[in-house]
Amino acid sequence: MLGAGIIGATIAEALAQRGADVAVLDMRGPNRGASQASAGMLTPYIEGEADSPLLNLCVRSLSLYDSFVARLLEVSRGGIEYARTGTLEIALDDDGVAKLLGNKVWLDTIGVESEWLDGNAVRSFEPSITPAAHGGLLTLDHGLVGVTSLMNALVHQARLAGATFEFPVEVHTVAQVGDRVEVTSVDRTWTGDAAVIAGGSWSRRVRIPGVPSLPVRPVRGQLLHLQWCEGDQPGRICWGPHCYAVPWSDGTVLVGATMEEVGFDEGTTVAGVNTLTSAAIELLPHATGARLDAIRVGLRPMLPDELPAIGPFAAAPRIVAATGHYRNGVLLAPLTAELVTGYLLDNVRDDLFEITTPDRFAKMEGGSA
Ligand code: GLY
Repeated sequence: MLGAGIIGATIAEALAQRGADVAVLDMRGPNRGASQASAGMLTPYIEGEADSPLLNLCVRSLSLYDSFVARLLEVSRGGIEYARTGTLEIALDDDGVAKLLGNKVWLDTIGVESEWLDGNAVRSFEPSITPAAHGGLLTLDHGLVGVTSLMNALVHQARLAGATFEFPVEVHTVAQVGDRVEVTSVDRTWTGDAAVIAGGSWSRRVRIPGVPSLPVRPVRGQLLHLQWCEGDQPGRICWGPHCYAVPWSDGTVLVGATMEEVGFDEGTTVAGVNTLTSAAIELLPHATGARLDAIRVGLRPMLPDELPAIGPFAAAPRIVAATGHYRNGVLLAPLTAELVTGYLLDNVRDDLFEITTPDRFAKMEGGSA
């Protein structure tokens, strides 16, 4: 397994539970890339457009979440924060109202429970929201998960089941040789029955002989970690025109996120903080009195069609991609693990591989073998 973020850890845990001998290699260690910055939102009906393949993937993965977390909670020492408290999307003008009412019609059509709140109803239901709100759409199925606690439980469980985590390891080549794979870093080679590329934005740096490199690009997200000090903390994820705010039981609120194409720069910027603080105050006026505890940064791994690459490479079927999850790595982790585990251990090629195959980019300009 190449990568110890949420995708690599979830797959490693699932494989190890089934008795596979798993080594997880990472250039920094568990939860050090995009996952540590994630706000942990489980929000398919906001992230995925109507009838889109992304929506289909996200809804299927969300349906796995209750049992995924429940199973890990049985053994987790520190607990895992997980709540299906819904999302409240807020409109601050008439155009926003029209857009959200259009979304409500769509959700009604596909049988997803939602509720429209006018401005007064928003203010009594969620007093932290700006009095300028024109209305809000409550989508009840949505939720949130604490990513650090989830990662801790996954790594703990994977280790108990026999998986090893090795870092810092920078793999440069993964090659299929007959029915085996060879994974090579500067000073070592590992051999095994299969390899999974789950390196997020860094997946492109791994060379697979005979296979074009995956065109993954990093998209930086900065988030503010606020300690709420004045007024009511929001009771659920609130999503405004320019930011989202995710409340946690420890009294903190994560506000995100910027979308920046700046290569592998994981730095924070005044402009990013300025944009997010303004957006937070616009949505939640009491954010003015919050303490700024930290600025988080993650590089979302984006593929050209904004869908993940999950599945084997046709030219090297013992090498499996599990990368490019872009804005939804945490949400898509259980489904990704189910698909990869099914393929590697039960020889199941899920129909979803037709959409998520990593080979779909092979003919793109710039792909190099
Ligand atoms: N899923 C939210 C984000 O990537 O900012």
